[in-house]
Amino acid sequence: MVQKIIVLALLLCCFTAIAAAADEKLPDPKKDGGDGIFALLERRASGGRGDFPKGAISREELSTILWAASGLNRNGKGWTVPMAMGKPPYVNIFAVTPEGAFLYDWKNNALVTANEKNILPDITGDGFVKESPVVLVFVSDPEGAGDASGINAGNALAFIASGAMTQNIYLAADSLGISGRYMVSMKTDAVKRELKLKENEVPLCIMPLAKR
Ligand SMILES: Cc1cc2nc3c(=O)[nH]c(=O)nc-3n(C[C@H](O)[C@H](O)[C@H](O)COP(=O)(O)O)c2cc1C
Repeated sequence: MVQKIIVLALLLCCFTAIAAAADEKLPDPKKDGGDGIFALLERRASGGRGDFPKGAISREELSTILWAASGLNRNGKGWTVPMAMGKPPYVNIFAVTPEGAFLYDWKNNALVTANEKNILPDITGDGFVKESPVVLVFVSDPEGAGDASGINAGNALAFIASGAMTQNIYLAADSLGISGRYMVSMKTDAVKRELKLKENEVPLCIMPLAKR
């Protein structure tokens, strides 16, 4: 009897872990309303290291933020950030949450499981980042950018794109009452290992996000 209970408990744990980190289609991003661009530019700020909020972010809010960073616009003809030579985004964005880590699939507006466990304690030494409900991790995809005439040396194109992506996020997130902070500090080896990156994929920066 005790054995049966243990087996059932183990099965339940496995099921819960799998269910918590399953691939999922995101709700449509919000594309109307919100605060005006000039008011947002006037207010833009990083969440403070000492008083970074901890509020949960809904799936619609996450969808909106990811769309602002790397989503299709112009009826599917372009992206919300300028990409060199109109190439598809060559920065991959991972949404790392306590429930698992997910790659943002901009084609399908979906989250694809990259790791089923909470990797936040592994990838950062900053307490407020570990406690954030969502931490975005930006990773260069050198193959996606190509290297015509050496123009992508040192992943320059990916660094440029991640700057545009994160600035879009600052503005969209603020309009939703969400704080973010652009950061280069991270445990790079752990990020590569836990997100199962390829040898030539380089973590560029991270951005913790939380509702105020
Ligand atoms: C290139 C760059 C790297 C940064 N890296 C970190 C970091 O590793 N840790 C951190 O807490 N903040 C980091 N920041 C956030 C800045 O410290 C913050 O943006 C700065 O204090 C300016 O504040 P503001 O964004 O509110 O204007 C970084 C910002 C930039 C632009």
